[in-house]
Amino acid sequence: MLPRNLSKRVRIMGSQALNLVDVDSSLAAKSPLEIIGYALREFDNIAISFSGAEDVVLIDMACRIRKDIEVFSLDTGRLHPETYRFIDRVREHYGIAIELMMPEAAAVEALVREKGLFSFYRDDHKECCGVRKINPLRRKLATLDAWITGQRRDQSPNTRAEIPVIQDDKAFARAGGTLTKFNPLSNWTSQQVWDYIRGNNVPYNELHDRGFISIGCEPCTRPVGPGQHEREGRWWWEEATKKECGLHAVNIES
Ligand code: ADX
Ligand code: SF4
Repeated sequence: MLPRNLSKRVRIMGSQALNLVDVDSSLAAKSPLEIIGYALREFDNIAISFSGAEDVVLIDMACRIRKDIEVFSLDTGRLHPETYRFIDRVREHYGIAIELMMPEAAAVEALVREKGLFSFYRDDHKECCGVRKINPLRRKLATLDAWITGQRRDQSPNTRAEIPVIQDDKAFARAGGTLTKFNPLSNWTSQQVWDYIRGNNVPYNELHDRGFISIGCEPCTRPVGPGQHEREGRWWWEEATKKECGLHAVNIES
């Protein structure tokens, strides 16, 4: 249990950096379930950002704490059919609503008219991710005080090695406000996540049985072979240091 006064200060003070470091060091030793419990206790206006992959464990844990959790997914329009089916299965399994955030139609139409459907292979993924992921995420986060992600340190040695359990998300905070970001799985390994999924009969995306580890949009994700890092299956035509789509802009800044 964190000192109550410490957590209160986190919410009240405008400048959070120092306090969040303190809270992070207390929370880092806690289990993901305890971290999610803390996040849900401290924030009413909070949502889980669900990608349709193994981050389903966040939903499973949150539902053990309370049933009325808010969950959203960024529907880029380019997800695998299996991922759409999985998102719906999760919705039914847990009896929760999952809000699908869509890109702005006019922006997608303009991009596709000008550059076609696969511009990311020729240019890079930034523009398409901007239209299909970042803008809808910004719209959603503008309505929240805190969000919960499934990011882990072991997902990307290049960009995620330092991810704290709790962050001040300056990249997506609304003007004049603050946004707190929780990464409860930060210190868990992929093995721990999968032990949890198997051990608790948590539903999972069937693509994982076909060699996919990290799952994003269909044209930008492929299975990885033995010995390959999971991140090698994402935007494989780009340098490892650029393999962030901007959802987690604070990783790149830091
Ligand atoms: S990404 O930035 O490279 O796409 P990644 O697939 O590793 O992210 O997922 C890390 C976390 O980002 C997920 O656990 C989830 O919280 C969030 N996330 C990624 N993609 C989505 C999505 N399409 N919708 C909602 N959240 C997502
Ligand atoms: Fe576009 Fe690929 Fe980014 Fe999806 S991952 S939004 S298809 S560039």
